[in-house]
Amino acid sequence: IPPPNVKQVLHAATSTQLPRGQSLGSLTTGTGSLVNSNQTSQTAGPGGPVLLQDFHLLDKLAHFDRERIPERVVHAKGAGAHGYFEVTGDVSGLTTADFLGRVGKRTPVFARFSTVGGESGSADTARDPRGFAVKFYTEEGNFDMVGNNTPIFFIRDPLKFPDFIHTQKRDPRTHCKNPDMQWDFFSHVPESLHQVLILFSNRGTPDGFRHMHGYSSHTYKLINSQGAVHYVKWHFRTNQGVRNLKAAEAERLAGADPDYSTHDLFNAIERGEHPSWTLYFQVLTEEQALNYKYNVLDVTKVISQKDFPLREVGRMVLNRNPENYFVEVEQAAFSPSHSVAGIAPSADRMLQGRLFSYPDTHRHRLGANYLQLPINSPVHPARNQQRDGPMAVSDNGGRLPNYEPNAFGGPSETAATRDVDVTARAEGALARHPFVLTDADFEQPRALYNLLPADEQQDLVDNIAGNIALAQPAFQASILPHLYRIDKGFGSRVEQQLKRAAHKL
Ligand code: HEM
Repeated sequence: IPPPNVKQVLHAATSTQLPRGQSLGSLTTGTGSLVNSNQTSQTAGPGGPVLLQDFHLLDKLAHFDRERIPERVVHAKGAGAHGYFEVTGDVSGLTTADFLGRVGKRTPVFARFSTVGGESGSADTARDPRGFAVKFYTEEGNFDMVGNNTPIFFIRDPLKFPDFIHTQKRDPRTHCKNPDMQWDFFSHVPESLHQVLILFSNRGTPDGFRHMHGYSSHTYKLINSQGAVHYVKWHFRTNQGVRNLKAAEAERLAGADPDYSTHDLFNAIERGEHPSWTLYFQVLTEEQALNYKYNVLDVTKVISQKDFPLREVGRMVLNRNPENYFVEVEQAAFSPSHSVAGIAPSADRMLQGRLFSYPDTHRHRLGANYLQLPINSPVHPARNQQRDGPMAVSDNGGRLPNYEPNAFGGPSETAATRDVDVTARAEGALARHPFVLTDADFEQPRALYNLLPADEQQDLVDNIAGNIALAQPAFQASILPHLYRIDKGFGSRVEQQLKRAAHKL
């Protein structure tokens, strides 16, 4: 792989040019009045104080003061693009979802890719999972697939999520990243190590957003017209080929071009090189899901493609850059709970926790009317009895009744829609039923380690040891037994490296 040419990448990323000779008319205030001067404030005499009557000045400053909204608490740095999804494989027997209903059917999409732990200005090439979120603007309302570039995750209970993320963010005292927190947490939560291995392999530093796969990670349910349920994992496989950066190159780029992946996606689309991904499903009947050797509702586990091969569903193509980053990318609000009939969440605990968390954070980040923002609104306008609230920018229901049922003809509910798996049953005591760590939790990380070619195995050992070495000896000691439990050779290689690093100090 030739090293990326940073100069060229930076140069091509101009987006604000106007077509030659085009005039945008006169400057106005927010109220539309012509602006006499945009350079000089009104003052009482040439040396006197500024005047409160200068609306243009006051409004300009006051608006600037309010430019920042809360950034995403995770996945704050990202880039997005518009495109379409086209069905290429028949899955109509699995789901009533209209956008998957027939081969050839096209649906507009908006995708956003991101890093996880860094702030909105952080480096794109940081070692981190990558977010892979797609909003499908279907005829039946919006469907969001909010996945990652990894088929699994660090934890399997949503109660652990804020603690886990705290360890990836900044130390409460120093406001710096702190490897102690990270290795302390991983040592206490060893089910995280499968994802930790992916993170410290070269897959933890993908070469831009175009060269990585995307996964639902969780198992979802598909419901067909008979009400029958199948379990499914989503795999978006890149048609650009997987490319990862070596650690040294990723670190160099973090300094030379912190917006490397953002530039890469934007420039490729401007050049007419439209990135695409082929969507596949891994499909299990309920019976197969129930009897599988791993719990399909445990998001730290993959389902082997040998056991359940990929089945082609369609192609996603990204062919249009946003016109305005804030309006289209920053205000985009994805959620696993934005769904359509025919697709339902499984009982995966993490997924269930996420169903709450995303709309909750959107209401905090964007406001109660976040679904009215153009990037989030469905192709057919929402019809319901929700009214008012801050920044109602739709017609707010116009003169239609704001209650239901009513005698005015609706809008009213549609009983035929299949938005819930009516066959699902739950039983057992209402209690906190913990996942118990077993040897099975170490099998998949072991298989992953042993599957890596020798050079990539060495990269993994170097990357993980290099990072553990930054933690205090007590935390180094607490993670090592878990690495030995994954594979004796792996544990020993990391330990040797740590000894060498300690010797150098
Ligand atoms: C973003 C919570 C697990 C993928 C977010 C955000 C929150 C959140 C609060 C910010 C959303 C926003 O401000 O718009 C959680 C919780 C989790 C969890 C509570 C576990 C209980 C996961 C998992 C995945 C994932 C397992 C992948 C399979 C993403 C992505 C974004 C995101 C892709 C960025 C969406 C965008 O581009 O706007 N998450 N998350 N998260 N999360 Fe999670």
